[in-house]
Amino acid sequence: MDYKQIIAEAIHEQLHENLELNEIKNLLEKPKHTDHGDVAFPTFQLAKLFRKNPAQIAQEVGESISSPLIDRKQIVGPYINFFLKKETVSSAVLKEVVAEKNNFGNLKIGNGGNVPIDMSSPNIAKPMSMGHLRSTVIGNSLANIFEKVDYTPIRINHLGDWGTQFGKLITAYKKWGSEEDVRKDPIKELLRLYVKFHTVAEDDPSLEDEGRLWFRKLEDGNPEAVELWTWFREESLNEFNKVYDRLNITFDSTNGEAFYNDKMEEVVNILDDKHLLSADQGAHIVDLEKYDLNPALIMKSDGATLYMTRDLAAALYRKNTYDFAQALYVVGQEQSNHFKQLKAVLKEADFEWSDDIHHIPFGLITKDGKKLSTRKGKVVLLEEVLNEASSLALKQIEEKNPELPNKETVAEQVGVGAVVFHDLKNDRLNNFDFTIEEVVQFEGETGPYVQYTRARAMSILNKAGVSDFDASNDFGLSDEYSWEVIKLLQEYPHTVKRAFDNYEPSIIAKHAIHLAQSFNRFYANVRVLDEHEEKDARLALVFAVTEVLKEDLRILGVEAPNEM
Ligand code: ARG
Repeated sequence: MDYKQIIAEAIHEQLHENLELNEIKNLLEKPKHTDHGDVAFPTFQLAKLFRKNPAQIAQEVGESISSPLIDRKQIVGPYINFFLKKETVSSAVLKEVVAEKNNFGNLKIGNGGNVPIDMSSPNIAKPMSMGHLRSTVIGNSLANIFEKVDYTPIRINHLGDWGTQFGKLITAYKKWGSEEDVRKDPIKELLRLYVKFHTVAEDDPSLEDEGRLWFRKLEDGNPEAVELWTWFREESLNEFNKVYDRLNITFDSTNGEAFYNDKMEEVVNILDDKHLLSADQGAHIVDLEKYDLNPALIMKSDGATLYMTRDLAAALYRKNTYDFAQALYVVGQEQSNHFKQLKAVLKEADFEWSDDIHHIPFGLITKDGKKLSTRKGKVVLLEEVLNEASSLALKQIEEKNPELPNKETVAEQVGVGAVVFHDLKNDRLNNFDFTIEEVVQFEGETGPYVQYTRARAMSILNKAGVSDFDASNDFGLSDEYSWEVIKLLQEYPHTVKRAFDNYEPSIIAKHAIHLAQSFNRFYANVRVLDEHEEKDARLALVFAVTEVLKEDLRILGVEAPNEM
């Protein structure tokens, strides 16, 4: 049931000589106030065509529009406001949700096409930061959104496992580290060594030379260097996996930067064959002046390859491996220039598919207004954030529902859900300041609020002893509170489409919040369990809300406990 479509068709019947159906659909508005109806059609655009003023047109055209869905019309100045037949619409919407359940809102857009999503991608030997959490949860949610519209997402963790920093780390480890300390608490110890390297190097620049030398050795396959690197990588990945496990996120590939070490020669050759490389003080660059971009640095004067070169190799590899419909890179906006360059270099090399590459940037997280920097050791440890959130959730459960079975499991679902939801509920480009107190808020527009609302709806169904509905029943509902819920359910496929079009999980999060809020208003005002001719329809509405809230949460990567 797409009532906007049906109203547009009814208007089109009257105006088919003047406007296309799609134009009419795009003109339709959702009035801010319910007193102005459910759908409104502004007539300004017709003034020129009709050589009349819009209010007059609204009068004349409004008169003749009719549809079985329309309860009444109201002409206000240049607007035709439509009030829909609540019973008819609610019954049609609820039938659909009851029949389709969690498939409600699925769209046939992608034809199964592959979409590799470069996400998370932390740097090994460093703690995973809040920035990497953003990339992880935004990437995961986009993967779910793409899947819902019939693409095949491929989650790729492009680990930062190569680069000069590993020369520094090896240097620091050999000077100040021990195997025992690293084994005890790998990331903390590796971070300590990394930070120490930079503090000492401030006074002793020769340390930097030593770091470069060790990286050189690593690139040349020196066994000691390779062994240390492999070990650091393994220990780091083990630590990262603890976080991924808690977030319930798995990857289809963890090919990081090092994976492309033997695939870069091909890239350099392609660029060379196309005469795109030019020398710049011994280094090789691709000039990008016509794109208004700085030149892309492909190879340093000492022959060392760079982040960009590895990303070029990765892009080619992904195109060859997945023949992607789109390729997404969920990476902070501070790397926007890098991805513009990446696309421009591929374009210069005549790879038309470079247009299908999309950088999905997101805003910066600051702490006390300042940027977080690993070098200075100023990081928020993600694991600690998750721990704190879940122990806070446990405390709340102990207070409110001490009898709950599996308290620890539910507390983890709620705590982790709070962190993930907090990250996804704002437009992804917004910057925000990180305070743990705010993240673990359970009141207001939060993940736990949505989870709690759904659990409450589940308990209503439980009390009523129903868990499934016959879609051939009639589910007509006529009150205002049901109507607000019905409208949000009806919008769901459009919401999914908008989230997909804009690469924006926050659209799903906002839908979840609005649906939870309007459901709570419904529940406070409508007596669901009382004997009433609308009882079955009311229960069907409760059921539909549990299904759609659960699907919203699933798309965001947040669990939906049945009880909490
Ligand atoms: N490891 C990088 C960082 O932490 C992010 C990598 C993003 N992906 C890519 N293909 N460049 O900044």
